[in-house]
Amino acid sequence: MKQQIPNTFGIKVYANQLLHYRSVEELQTLIQHKQLTAPLLHIGAGSNLLFTRDFEGTVLHSEIRFISVKEEDEEQVLLRVGAGICWDELVEYAVAHGWQGIENLSLIPGEVGSAAVQNIGAYGAEVADVIYRVHGVDLQTGELQSWSRAECRYSYRYSLFKQPEMKRFALTEVEMRLSKSGTPNLSYRGLAEQLARNAAPCTLQAVRQAVIDLRRSKLPDPAELGNAGSFFTNPMVSPQQAEALKQRYPQLPVYPTEGGNMKLSAGWLIEQCGWKQRSIGDAAVYEKQALVLINRGNATGADIYHLSEEIIRSVEEKFGVHLVREVNVF
Ligand code: EPU
Repeated sequence: MKQQIPNTFGIKVYANQLLHYRSVEELQTLIQHKQLTAPLLHIGAGSNLLFTRDFEGTVLHSEIRFISVKEEDEEQVLLRVGAGICWDELVEYAVAHGWQGIENLSLIPGEVGSAAVQNIGAYGAEVADVIYRVHGVDLQTGELQSWSRAECRYSYRYSLFKQPEMKRFALTEVEMRLSKSGTPNLSYRGLAEQLARNAAPCTLQAVRQAVIDLRRSKLPDPAELGNAGSFFTNPMVSPQQAEALKQRYPQLPVYPTEGGNMKLSAGWLIEQCGWKQRSIGDAAVYEKQALVLINRGNATGADIYHLSEEIIRSVEEKFGVHLVREVNVF
């Protein structure tokens, strides 16, 4: 019997089968017994997915849930974390132990495995900053493999695991190095401002709370309004293109990046095209953050996809900038 695929857009879609496994051994048994009928799709919490149709294959989900200390000294701790741990549960745990490094990533929906695939980021931090090693299983052979952080080739919202040929691996465990003495990263101006508004001291707990307050003020809660966070990535352009755009649109937010290219704000570009609060059926642009598309109730995946196509078209037309979806579409 077909099984419903969890997704935070709140779209009703089904897979031929949905399999959960609680350990590496359980996953290897599924592989050996040939229970994974192709095509295969490995999901986390379904918080970065848009389904435009049912999935005629097997959807896999990790319930490998553990957090343990592999090594520690006075300065830092090396954690082993199961891929099926809820991301924010890990952040809460780290902050409660006084371990610094992921507090700026508070309240991001999803699980640890997909966080390492997508290189989740917010408020001046990325999970790649703390990743030490990633472990996985080859879904064709059941063999174990692991990758150092350098081998993961992390960059903005990117990792090696986004390459099509890497889809044959399921990540099972992520090792992360957190600091026992590090000071919070307040490089994102809005975070320092929120901390000041909260009249809070600069503790890890206070930073976590400030991030939670910021997110709640700007981003819809998927439990109340279907969404997958930022629908597009922020586009990178050459310094020349950024300069030309800035001449025409002096208000355009532009951020220099390490590689020398300039990052633009997709939310700003979308808003300037007049999309804020506009909708196609029940698929709409969120009123407080134009980078977020929402399901007002009965949108289909195709409605949301159609809205995203229209947005891409109009941003391209007005600014000559091509937006790329952050959300994975099926
Ligand atoms: N802006 C607008 N209009 C909008 C939205 C944004 O003008 O509707 C402008 C803002 O005024 C600001 C700039 O765009 O000057 C940047 O906005 P914001 O700080 O809200 O961040 P963002 O670039 O829109 C990114 C991440 C978010 C993350 C925030 C905070 C991506 C794709 N998104 O959004 O991540 O929470 O920064 O660091 O990089 C996610 O990936 O799902 C996500 C929510």
